[in-house]
Amino acid sequence: MIVIAGSASNKLAARIAKALGCPLVKPQLKRFPDCESYVRIPREVKGQHAIVVQSTCTPANENLIELCFLLDTAKDLGAKRVTAVVPYFGYARQDKRFEPGEAISVRTVCKLIERAGPDDLLTVDIHEDEIMTNFAIPAFNLSAMPLLGQHLAKLKLRSLVVLAADQGALPRAKRVAAEFGADYDYLEKSRLTSTKVLTKPKRLDVAKRDVVIVDDIISTGGTVVEAAKVLRKQRARTILAACTHPVFVGNALKRVLAAGVRKVIATDTIEHRTSVVSAAPVIVEAIRRGA
Ligand code: R5P
Repeated sequence: MIVIAGSASNKLAARIAKALGCPLVKPQLKRFPDCESYVRIPREVKGQHAIVVQSTCTPANENLIELCFLLDTAKDLGAKRVTAVVPYFGYARQDKRFEPGEAISVRTVCKLIERAGPDDLLTVDIHEDEIMTNFAIPAFNLSAMPLLGQHLAKLKLRSLVVLAADQGALPRAKRVAAEFGADYDYLEKSRLTSTKVLTKPKRLDVAKRDVVIVDDIISTGGTVVEAAKVLRKQRARTILAACTHPVFVGNALKRVLAAGVRKVIATDTIEHRTSVVSAAPVIVEAIRRGA
């Protein structure tokens, strides 16, 4: 078995290789003068189970093409099996035709990845589990929520409430809370535009309690900022935020902290300074299970 590290997932790939006790391969990557991507796998792949780890975070298009090149090349060089590990699955939020004529982008992305030839695919906390049904190959959506819960359990939090950023994220909050028997609930959110959300001040039992807002992604930070406003009004003691994917567009982290969130805890599906929890254990476990 070998682990091939895509440029967007260097650290996570190294952690996965270390836990599996197998070699980590760093592909040679460069740009042609016209900016096209060049990829070379500088190691014998023939007969190996090659695990290609690459998130398709920003720059999404470049990381996606690198992922496809790595998968196709590993297969073409004679790997006996190729597993695509896409810890953060870009374009997952464009999973519907919200306006007439729009691309259902994630469906196209699934086709592209599958055509590049992996035998199976793993991802983590993809926006909607249903996206996995676009794949004909075995494709599994793992969850890092228990790992976030285990991390939170080590912090000295008092009378903790785990809150999903919206109703859709409630199962995520439940998985986090299950790690230490905390209460959980959800906030009522409606999205006004791609950057503006409205969180209704649903009555919550948060006064003088520590609260963790849980979501799959923090992108513009709008969701967490609005949630923090509601929680401050309802006199929560300490507000934290936890997410799997720290997308953090522009100054989003600054906005989130300015809104009164004391700390953000995220995983390394995207490498960021908030990535204090590694998603490697759930990925390694799935690989060992033979996923
Ligand atoms: C939406 O349904 C997602 O679960 C997240 O709540 C959303 O993507 C977060 O985005 P933002 O940080 O831009 O509010």
